Amino acid sequence: MSGGGGEVPRNAGATFVGGKRGPWQVEQIAGIRGAPLPRVSAVDMIPGVESRVPVASVWALRGIIEQEHYTTPTEQARLRLVQPALGRSGCTRAALIPIRKSSDWWDLPLNERRAIFEDRSHHLATGLEYLPAVARQLYHSRRLGEPFDFLTWFEFKPSDSPAFERLVGRLRETEEWNYVEREVDVRLHRADSSRY
Ligand code: HEM
Repeated sequence: MSGGGGEVPRNAGATFVGGKRGPWQVEQIAGIRGAPLPRVSAVDMIPGVESRVPVASVWALRGIIEQEHYTTPTEQARLRLVQPALGRSGCTRAALIPIRKSSDWWDLPLNERRAIFEDRSHHLATGLEYLPAVARQLYHSRRLGEPFDFLTWFEFKPSDSPAFERLVGRLRETEEWNYVEREVDVRLHRADSSRY
């Protein structure tokens, strides 16, 4: 567990822009809990959180990469061994799942949040079962004053879509998800080039 040392530069993040243009074509936007996001036909991912967003965009969601809060150094090492990079050839499916947790969650002490996250909900242990098929990146948005606390991003091959569905279903049944008050599930696909 780490308290976050601020070593990750502020611009190590991304802005997800929903609109008409972008390499990722929208298949579906599902409001899982709380208000959904307006329908768009494409999503672009712009590096950093301070870039200018195209005027024609419908929404823009920003998030920064932070150090892990709940995972132990051993867990992080295990994760690093198996987690693949984003942008793999053939991984033409993606999910952008922005999530906001309730004030009940944020009011809990860190050790209790950790207990819910891993000891009781097995978030990492469950997630690890789906690696390296699924590549992931977590962005934190809460400190940026954004409408969501987290932007979660996943990439996988079309043949791994059913497995990803199972993963999402399992996580949504955990105690951790009792604290999710807003969740939108944006499913995307792109043409198969090596990198977007
Ligand atoms: C693909 C397998 C997955 C793995 C290996 C994984 C692993 C992790 C790890 C290591 C963290 C960071 C914990 C920390 O700060 O120490 C995390 C956080 C998070 N993940 Fe996952 N995850 C996976 C899938 C998912 C999915 C499918 C979702 C959404 C449906 C999701 C939503 C989140 C959220 C919202 C957080 C932030 C939790 C918080 O800080 O309160 N994860 N995950």
